[in-house]
Amino acid sequence: MSQVLVLNSSLSGEASVSRLLVAETVSQLVARDPAAKLVFRDLAETEIPHLNPRTVAGVRATASTPAETKARALSDELIAELRAADTIVIGAPMYNFSIPSTLRTWFDHVLRAGETFSYSEAGPKGLLEGKRVIVVESRGGLYSEGPAQALDFQEPYLRQLLGFIGLTDVTFVQAEKIGYGPDARAAAIEGAKARLADLIARDLSQAA
Ligand SMILES: Cc1cc2nc3c(=O)[nH]c(=O)nc-3n(C[C@H](O)[C@H](O)[C@H](O)COP(=O)(O)O)c2cc1C
Repeated sequence: MSQVLVLNSSLSGEASVSRLLVAETVSQLVARDPAAKLVFRDLAETEIPHLNPRTVAGVRATASTPAETKARALSDELIAELRAADTIVIGAPMYNFSIPSTLRTWFDHVLRAGETFSYSEAGPKGLLEGKRVIVVESRGGLYSEGPAQALDFQEPYLRQLLGFIGLTDVTFVQAEKIGYGPDARAAAIEGAKARLADLIARDLSQAA
């Protein structure tokens, strides 16, 4: 049975474009594989605590205090969800040219030496393999072309974070110009839905 890990991070609830498109992605994946197990992490509703001086050793070194042990347990749980997933769907709005801090905190807990990456003479190596990632990126402005392209610290950053732990099969689906008014918003949603449908249909034909 395949497993899908679904991460949402938009703060905008029902008005969120990324949540809508993540839901669309999930329903298409389930239509393809009705037995798929879904695991949801809503990083906006249930915040993962920032690492702080009392907890950081639990994730980055050795846990010896109760606070560090608790942080390590959460990190273990999040990594286990990631390992168990065949497909990971991430809703990632652009916030201040990058990703929401809640999503960044999730990465702080899952990028762990010896668990999801290792260091060697040859440099860092990602330890996760054989997983498919679909990232929905919603943005107020336009970054895929034009003068703001250089300000996109969202997609290159996500590609680096995911690739660092071995998640290299990543497809980014963008919904841009969400802040340009209702028509632009509707067009962006329709365009992203069409790309998602195409992506999942192509997966289906490859799997057949
Ligand atoms: C805190 C915050 C920061 C934002 N920063 C940017 C930004 O840097 N660039 C941009 O194009 N849009 C920015 N936006 C707009 C969002 O990217 C846009 O509204 C997008 O649709 C959010 O995704 P969502 O609809 O899934 O919540 C920001 C929105 C918020 C709430």
